[in-house]
Amino acid sequence: MMKILVTGGAGFIGSNFVCQILREHPDWEVTNLDKLTYAGNLENLGDVEGNPGYYFVKGDIADREVVDKLLDQGFDVVVNFAAESHVDRSILDSSPFIRTNVQGTQALLEGARQHKVKLFLQVSTDEVYGSLGAPGKFTEESPLLPNSPYAASKAAADCLCRAYYHTYGLPVVITRCSNNYGPFQVGVRASSLGRDSGKPSSGIFKMSPGGSELRVGNMLSIMRGCTPKERVAGSV
Ligand SMILES: NC(=O)c1ccc[n+]([C@@H]2O[C@H](COP(=O)([O-])OP(=O)(O)OC[C@H]3O[C@@H](n4cnc5c(N)ncnc54)[C@H](O)[C@@H]3O)[C@@H](O)[C@H]2O)c1
Repeated sequence: MMKILVTGGAGFIGSNFVCQILREHPDWEVTNLDKLTYAGNLENLGDVEGNPGYYFVKGDIADREVVDKLLDQGFDVVVNFAAESHVDRSILDSSPFIRTNVQGTQALLEGARQHKVKLFLQVSTDEVYGSLGAPGKFTEESPLLPNSPYAASKAAADCLCRAYYHTYGLPVVITRCSNNYGPFQVGVRASSLGRDSGKPSSGIFKMSPGGSELRVGNMLSIMRGCTPKERVAGSV
């Protein structure tokens, strides 16, 4: 049995993750901590309603008291999806991005360190690498060159994750997928796909070519047995 704290599990990707993980592992326990901002929607989680292994807590990842109280329950894994995630909103006002994406990640990292979780999975974005020219590709060694307040806040969170790994030995994995699309996506994101990346999704959560199921399989394999040492992003 694995006990997982998922944050932002009422959002687009997090809700798909929660539903899939409980479908594939009915004996696991998933607690979903979500502030329910405009982007969170509990209706996304209809599939797990009434599931005895699923718990929902409304709360803010930047609130240390909430985080500590939850982590006291003893979790094996923390998966951090919670974020202010829309580039255009970050251009209008970056403050909530700093609070949730930076302070919130720090609060979770600190809690995870103190409570000795076995894996901290930080869901980041390829936008931390900045813009890609027509040819070319990003690798884990690419420098962090964020171009929007959103990307900068995610890059800052990645730096904190790296620091917690190197300073305290917290087992951290960072994923940096590109744009995702699929069920439960909030419209504004879908319509800004082209602008954000100029290319179709190629991240680990991408939809299968003609399919309707979000692939979170790679996240699951990370949780099932990766060596954090090999996975901590090397490019920060
Ligand atoms: N959507 C994409 O294409 C994409 C691409 C790359 C990376 N990502 C990353 O994946 C993660 C999930 O993205 P998404 O598109 O599902 O986001 P989303 O905006 O759909 O959902 C975010 C969720 O986090 C919750 N939340 C926001 N602030 C919170 C706080 N302070 N405390 C607790 N919960 C809070 C919201 O209520 C919502 O349920 C994010 O970290 C994002 O940066 C997304």
